Amino acid sequence: MCGIVGYIGKKQAQNILIDGLSKLEYRGYDSAGIAVMDDAGKIQVQKKKGRLKNLEDILEKAPLKGSIGIGHTRWATHGEPSDINSHPHLSSDGRIAVVHNGIIENYIELKEMLIKAGHRFVSDTDTEVVAHLLNELYDGDIVATLQAAVKQIKGSYALGILCDEEPDKIVAIRKDSPLIVGLGEGENFIASDIPAILKHTRDVYLLDNDEIAVLTADSVTVLDRYGEVCGKQIFKVDWDPGDAEKGGYEHFMLKEIHEQPKAMMDTLTGRCFEDKIVLDDVNLDAEVMKNINRIQIVACGTAYHAGMVGKYLIEKFARVSVETEAASEYRYKDPLVDEHTLLIVISQSGETADTLAAIRLAKEKGARVLAITNVVGSSIAREADDVLYTNAGPEIAVASTKAYVTQVGCITMLALHFGLLNGTVSAEKVAQITAALKRTPELIEKALADEEKLKAFAYDNFKIEDMYFIGRGLDYYTCMEGSLKAKEISYIHSDAYTAGELKHGPIALIDQGTVVVAVCTQEAVFDKMLSNIKEVKARGAQVLAIAQEGHDELLPEVDQVFFIPRVDDEIIPISAIVYLQILSYYLSVARGCDVDKPKNLAKSVTVE
Ligand code: M6R
Repeated sequence: MCGIVGYIGKKQAQNILIDGLSKLEYRGYDSAGIAVMDDAGKIQVQKKKGRLKNLEDILEKAPLKGSIGIGHTRWATHGEPSDINSHPHLSSDGRIAVVHNGIIENYIELKEMLIKAGHRFVSDTDTEVVAHLLNELYDGDIVATLQAAVKQIKGSYALGILCDEEPDKIVAIRKDSPLIVGLGEGENFIASDIPAILKHTRDVYLLDNDEIAVLTADSVTVLDRYGEVCGKQIFKVDWDPGDAEKGGYEHFMLKEIHEQPKAMMDTLTGRCFEDKIVLDDVNLDAEVMKNINRIQIVACGTAYHAGMVGKYLIEKFARVSVETEAASEYRYKDPLVDEHTLLIVISQSGETADTLAAIRLAKEKGARVLAITNVVGSSIAREADDVLYTNAGPEIAVASTKAYVTQVGCITMLALHFGLLNGTVSAEKVAQITAALKRTPELIEKALADEEKLKAFAYDNFKIEDMYFIGRGLDYYTCMEGSLKAKEISYIHSDAYTAGELKHGPIALIDQGTVVVAVCTQEAVFDKMLSNIKEVKARGAQVLAIAQEGHDELLPEVDQVFFIPRVDDEIIPISAIVYLQILSYYLSVARGCDVDKPKNLAKSVTVE
């Protein structure tokens, strides 16, 4: 998830681009850059690793003059944060400049083809192929060239393009990544998000997938996928600038909850295919795995819960035993770890001190380390041997949401990958699970559609002081994560229990009105869960249940039920948690808590 801005008009573009990028830094902030067309029609580029300030300092000394330009603030996915990997990217002859948000799935294939055709690549990014491909296909008409290029590109993209042979225009396109056009008087804009241009205009076109926008200073033409001009409706923005950063949502957490379908799509893109899993970034092939006889998963908080799901699925698909440990425990317990160990660490920030210490300890003993993280170039990414990026985009709210679902997405793919290497999962099962994984964005959308009902439940119950989550198998890990969400943002005391353990103690806590969230999506143990629900109900509990569609027998037994569309049990943690995130979010709002910055907590725990 990166930020894009573009300007064409009569003012100096540089200042407008920098100001726009400053409003988009929440979308990515590991590097930034701009390309400006000078009055002689030459494209000049300046880009710099780090926060926008680094770029500003350079531009202050050596401004780029011109009134047409594109800019970018990056959240790295392919290639570490560096000056070279920053956008804009140029064609080898410097005549086409591109900024990009999204992932080019087939960039390796395209890169090989373009290198053979004589193009010279300088960065490790997927984006650079777009600049060279446009250059390769250019026939004097940048719009027609773009139409031809996107036929060869697979993946998601919002692109802003400058071409020095057509110095009076900016061309832009989107597919599965947001892009808008801002309409001004004698000036027009593109942006990945509204805040970037709010200072200049409140009239925008929201581009739909495959639409191309052609901007001059005085006109905007939008073409549909067939090249026909389409009559776009003007969307009038009435948000204030503060809300705009949150995309109109009241809090970053809610915005990030709603970003989950897209985040999951980005996680799966280029990795999850009909009958196979391709984890190009991870060099764990059959040869390497032959040397591994122990797998450990280590993480903290929410990431640890994703690790629990990982343990379950790796054991299920790959039939090897996996140990899971909180990183803060691992480092002090003299763990059994050696050169035959694969340590999998999971971390959104890639900077968590305990997780980092676990890596160092394991590496000292010769272990191989695979990191699942969201931050390219983070300490954990740099110290691990292999990295699987979650591609969730920046997560601002302290409470982790989209990072969690994408971590679970990654570890599910990894479990299938190991299963395939070990020959312990059939081709049919892989096809079945990958098909289910591809449905996860839609399943999350279904959970989001239940937001109002969850909100109502939260507002009816926000005064509670205790809350319990019960589930079995994979549902138990969803309960652990749901319980953590409730604690950290609504400050309600909560616990998660495996439902079978209730009778061994926790049921003593259930009283008239106690809220119990029963996650009962796992088919093999549904009947057992139904009995547990009856047990807590009989003691006066108020029960909110989450189950797969078709279990109408729950209706008379519970106070509220949310049904998930039928899908393989193994995939359900990715959508079931969304109901609990929304529930916690509204409990927190109703209780007047600081949702995005809960007390005593930090987004990144870089100290012990
Ligand atoms: O950045 P990390 O994923 O390593 O962070 C781990 C935990 O600190 C984090 O998941 C924490 O539990 C979140 N606040 C949960 O919402």
